[in-house]
Amino acid sequence: MDVFDKCTMNMGPLGRYADQSEGYFMFPKLEGEIGNRMIFKGKERLVWSLNNYLGLANHPEVRKADAEAAAKYGMAYPMGARMMSGQTDYHEQLERELAAYVGREAAYLLNYGYQGMVSIINALVDRKDVIVYDSEAHACIIDGMRLHFGKRFVYPHNNIENLELQLRRAKKLTEQTGGGILVITEGVYGMSGDLGKLLDIVALKEKFNFRLLVDDAHGFGTMGPTGGGTDEFYGVQDKVDLFFGTFAKSMAGIGGFIAGDKQVIKYLMYNMRSQIFAKSLPMPMVIGALKRLEILRNEPQHRENLWKIVHALQDGLKAKGLDIGKTESPVTPVMLSGGVGEATQITYDLRENYNIFCSIVGYPVVPKGVILLRLIPTAMHTMEDVEYTINAFAEIKEKLEQKKYTEEMADISE
Ligand SMILES: Cc1ncc(COP(=O)(O)O)c(C=O)c1O
Repeated sequence: MDVFDKCTMNMGPLGRYADQSEGYFMFPKLEGEIGNRMIFKGKERLVWSLNNYLGLANHPEVRKADAEAAAKYGMAYPMGARMMSGQTDYHEQLERELAAYVGREAAYLLNYGYQGMVSIINALVDRKDVIVYDSEAHACIIDGMRLHFGKRFVYPHNNIENLELQLRRAKKLTEQTGGGILVITEGVYGMSGDLGKLLDIVALKEKFNFRLLVDDAHGFGTMGPTGGGTDEFYGVQDKVDLFFGTFAKSMAGIGGFIAGDKQVIKYLMYNMRSQIFAKSLPMPMVIGALKRLEILRNEPQHRENLWKIVHALQDGLKAKGLDIGKTESPVTPVMLSGGVGEATQITYDLRENYNIFCSIVGYPVVPKGVILLRLIPTAMHTMEDVEYTINAFAEIKEKLEQKKYTEEMADISE
């Protein structure tokens, strides 16, 4: 058997649809300035699929800071990993400012949130320790856990009763091994938009001795009175031991950070393999992130605009009888029932006949028979965009009920 055989025989759960979907449903190209309207297949569409929550991707000051830093430093500087030759005052300044913004003693930058998370988990636990995690954890958490030699116990999504059960198991085991317990949840769940039950989780700290790591990729910049994150929203920043944020969403950039107590961050700085053995974030990203953070602190109007759009969109969809699940964040899922074929036809209809571009999420990310169309409102959207979209979705729902979409995959050949 050739290891490459699978490349033709088994393309994997997503790759199996490559022939019918590439370039349209998967790997689509959105062109033009990042915003609420972009070009897809040569036509302008109303876009609801970018995590540019606060609209910073094209904020003039952000663009200026990025361009000036690129002109001054190029994309190469600093060369090498932080530990070896890639350290600068700006990297340290950004870390201090991020820590202050999320109410922690210290922070450390991550080249990509994903790789950072893998190494945070890998560095924190050894074979004596137990990880307890939510069943809907992001792929980067799952990959981090794949490096863990000890036990890991999963609890059904946001099921606190079951979490307690898993903690009891973990306690019993660690009493034998002499290890500790790490609980991992997300702040905002990126597909369904519901929040990790941080209040209930931190309350369990009274009964069990564990450390809590929160991945708040979607909550950083959007949730809480100052955008500090989901733990700020719940008022439990002091109970969340490690706060993870990415620059890929509200900050409209690349990279991320981990924040917590000084000594823990110092430990991570010396032990996260994906950071020690990889090149430092380039200067335009760091200087650009400082500018973005300044805007997050000083221009609350972007967050206010975002939430105005979020409320109007979610209230309007609900009023038309659409199922948006349990979202409490800007992430707005619209749940419909049907198979993969119907899902592609609905998405095709939305894109071609309504000029609405949103993401489609199917099995295996959601259960079989569920179609999840995910809308990401941003500060760039308008009330007209919202109204138009609500009406379009109401029509889609009606057409689905009248069986106007068939089980066949949409034909995207033209
Ligand atoms: C919940 C969650 N965690 C982590 C990441 C990874 O972050 P990054 O894009 O910075 O690698 C993402 C996606 O961006 C995410 O949605």
